[in-house]
Amino acid sequence: MKKIAVLGSGNGSNFEAIVKYFKYKDVCFTCISDKIQAYILERAKILGVERHFVPYDETFNYLKKNDFDLIVLAGYMRILPSEIVNSFKIINIHPSLLPEFKGMSAIEQAYNAKVKTTGVTVHYVNEEVDAGEIIAQVQVPIEKAMTVEQLEEKIHSAEHYLYPRVLESLLYGTPLKIKEPQTC
Ligand code: GRF
Repeated sequence: MKKIAVLGSGNGSNFEAIVKYFKYKDVCFTCISDKIQAYILERAKILGVERHFVPYDETFNYLKKNDFDLIVLAGYMRILPSEIVNSFKIINIHPSLLPEFKGMSAIEQAYNAKVKTTGVTVHYVNEEVDAGEIIAQVQVPIEKAMTVEQLEEKIHSAEHYLYPRVLESLLYGTPLKIKEPQTC
């Protein structure tokens, strides 16, 4: 049985996509949020997943006490200190083709920059924001008449597609199998 911790501060749609993808696999999830009101905790409750409110300052001790195979960030809005990023293998997803459009509002940044293609990136977490080693990316084309809301929807679908598959490949050491980027 593999153990995955998912840390999030907000909506939790990636968390839900991951949990559903692994439904019939031998994986046990723990949902952790630094925000007691975060909807990700509600999703965990609905999905029947163990959930904990863990204040930011207590996160290191919590992770040390539990032996997770993977620590996964999904909308976790805090910068993890070096003692944490240097002690564990931590994965994050970001809604752009890194290294382009780091930081907040990456989808809007790409939209306003009028690039033809943006996408999503799954990467390891290091001490710098959105700068760790890239594991996988998928592209999302920005069509001419697209609104920013439509782009957001496409990006989130691409995230929900890519993230669980990358985690599966990391957990079991299997090759990453993803469709052609244009189909996301
Ligand atoms: C996603 O767009 C992810 O790329 C970014 O934060 C957002 C989290 O969304 N890091 P959700 O909480 O998974 O719905």
